[in-house]
Amino acid sequence: MIRIEGGRPLRGTVQAAGSKNAALPAVMASLLTVEPMVLQNVPRLLDVDAAVALAEALGKEVRWQDSTIVLNGGRELAPEAPAPLVQRMRASFLALGPILARRGEGRMPLPGGCSIGPRPVDLHLAGLRRLGASFDVRGGTVHASAPRLAGTTVYLDYPSVGATEQLLLAGALADGVTAIVNPAREPEVVDLGRLLTAMGAPVTWREDRVEIRGQSALNGTTHRVIPDRVEAGTYLLAGAITRGAVTVVGARHEHLDALLSKLVETGAEVRVNEDAVTVALGVRPQAVNIQTLPYPGFPTDLQPPMISFLSTASGRSTARETVFASRFNYVGALARMGAQVQVTADTVLTDGVETLHGAEVEATDIRAGAALVLAALAAAEATEIRGEMHLARGYAGLPEKLRSLGAEVCVTD
Ligand code: EPZ
Repeated sequence: MIRIEGGRPLRGTVQAAGSKNAALPAVMASLLTVEPMVLQNVPRLLDVDAAVALAEALGKEVRWQDSTIVLNGGRELAPEAPAPLVQRMRASFLALGPILARRGEGRMPLPGGCSIGPRPVDLHLAGLRRLGASFDVRGGTVHASAPRLAGTTVYLDYPSVGATEQLLLAGALADGVTAIVNPAREPEVVDLGRLLTAMGAPVTWREDRVEIRGQSALNGTTHRVIPDRVEAGTYLLAGAITRGAVTVVGARHEHLDALLSKLVETGAEVRVNEDAVTVALGVRPQAVNIQTLPYPGFPTDLQPPMISFLSTASGRSTARETVFASRFNYVGALARMGAQVQVTADTVLTDGVETLHGAEVEATDIRAGAALVLAALAAAEATEIRGEMHLARGYAGLPEKLRSLGAEVCVTD
């Protein structure tokens, strides 16, 4: 449980960690080769531990050295990903493409992961079918076979991050060129493309598609994972909600444009240079309206933290969540902390209040947890947040980073 004594402006500088959502597909990419792969700037997170455990279960040898992991071996990939590991984290499903590409057959449990609405994998499977795979889903397990993956043009009904990554991973070892029309363009997907290019499968972005030229084998490489834009945005919002000034070093401001322009609209002061972003806010913010969209739209992962921040603005703010069916399970806890917040259909609405109040609350997913941490930092009294395991899934060293900004945080089991 995390206990936070709120009401103190956060001031100072924190270092952005490597991106969780870039590190996870990068670990899956190591399944595509038997040559050594070195991933640098990898965040120490429970989700990364789960991805590493999955890679090891499938046959890779993995060694951590600080924020670098070295992945070796995997000459014979196992045909099946262990269910407990796949249930722990949805991104494990990205192992399917590599297993199919390397073995021609495999078994993969349907994924678990966050509690943010139904998260099907129909776009993953439809895309892999286009490349020549066939599937039989029995008892929650996908039985897959693909004697040979052949590149072709795949249209995505929705620019799904996972489905785009799945098809890039499979396409890297397919015959010929795989073109994904209407792909996700999140920085984490582009980073995966950079990694696959370095492994020998050239990835090219065009205005309506991304193409990958498959190879018969891929080499290892050394790859530095991009900074985590969602973690960076969360700390910038922590500075804003506490009426302080926080600088995140190592963040890419161009990955945060939607958040930064909305923060300027609220009256916050935003300063950027090539490898740091600062947000300062000394007065009560103005209300704004946002809607979440695929990149470069406002990121769905920052919708919960942003609503926490806007729950103390003057006026009514709304956030329309267009990416996930339901990403509002933090709203009840936020209301218990004194926020005037409610959900109608796909939109959360908050009439800002002067102050929030401490409470005992529970985090139910990574970004819901982040929203509650922000509210607690602003609250007049102490807040106790249970479910901190979710925070450890997505925010490396959160208590220490918050303390370095002047927050009063303690973790008790
Ligand atoms: C990735 O999830 C991220 N996770 C999520 O971050 C992020 O919120 C999401 O992209 C959107 O940006 C990782 O990268 C590990 P999607 P993913 O496929 O790939 C629907 C966090 O907190 N959909 O783009 O699962 C889906 O239900 C996590 O770090 C299908 O219908 O996201 C959702 O409504 C949370 N069929 C929408 O698309 C499919 O086959 C977007 O999902 C796949 C997705």
